[in-house]
Amino acid sequence: MIISISDKEFERLVTYVHDNYGIDLSRKRVMIEGRLGNVLEKRGFKDYSSFLDMIFADKTGTEVVNLMTRLTTNHTYFLREPEHYDFMRNVFLPEMKQKKKDKTIYLWSAGCSSGEEPYTNAIEMAEFFGSEARQWDTKLLATDISLKVLAKAQQAVYHRESMKNLSPEVVKKYFTPLDNECFQVNQEIRKQVVFKVFNLMDEIPYRKHPFDMIFCRNVMIYFDAQTKVDLVNRFYDVLAPGGYLFIGHAESIPRDATGYKYIKPAIYQKPF
Ligand SMILES: C[S@@+](CC[C@H](N)C(=O)[O-])C[C@H]1O[C@@H](n2cnc3c(N)ncnc32)[C@H](O)[C@@H]1O
Repeated sequence: MIISISDKEFERLVTYVHDNYGIDLSRKRVMIEGRLGNVLEKRGFKDYSSFLDMIFADKTGTEVVNLMTRLTTNHTYFLREPEHYDFMRNVFLPEMKQKKKDKTIYLWSAGCSSGEEPYTNAIEMAEFFGSEARQWDTKLLATDISLKVLAKAQQAVYHRESMKNLSPEVVKKYFTPLDNECFQVNQEIRKQVVFKVFNLMDEIPYRKHPFDMIFCRNVMIYFDAQTKVDLVNRFYDVLAPGGYLFIGHAESIPRDATGYKYIKPAIYQKPF
């Protein structure tokens, strides 16, 4: 029998997740019961109160991370939202080529899930620069709160299903087939991406170099308006003047609440 969550327990969980992760689960009761019910049962908890007590008492933080892994949606794939990559190829990278005399590019994939997004970004840059790629120092930071997805990202092994948007030429050039179904991203691309655990509600520690582009796509879907504004304003502080922010096409940034210039759907720029 599935264990149901009481109003009080639901409120406690929703408040905790909102205050600590900015995610609004207030309309996700069925999802919560669906995703956590069998965990409670397997681990022998009779109700959500004792389960939550255990999670909040765990000083290592592992239990909270596991909880968040279950409650967040990690769905992603290569070359998602191709309009962003058209912009990258036709506008962003030509701009970089022209203006970056030191030949460095810093990208951040914030909420990178299992790595398809930052690896797509690295592949796009390799394709754009071609034989000049070695002269460029392209650094990609990729962060997520879920350790589980980051472990998968680091392995860089993907099912062909998530690679459907990639051309056969790109697959041949940047992946090694492991069997008929699975491919591993080649070392040359993997070594450019640094994966780290980071909760987007925390102060951004990555301040050594401003970012030329930040991807935060399909992450803020459950964030409330204020959390979203706070986050995109913190991104603003670590973007280079003229740098871009990409958000998911299903997401939006409230007008007038930030200094960004709207460029086109899901693309914003920090003015020079
Ligand atoms: C649907 S995936 C998006 C992946 C990729 N950006 C894309 O568009 O395909 C959303 C990711 O955001 C992460 N996430 C959600 N809330 C977060 C937070 N507060 N801090 C960091 N990552 C978060 C989830 O763990 C999940 O992997």
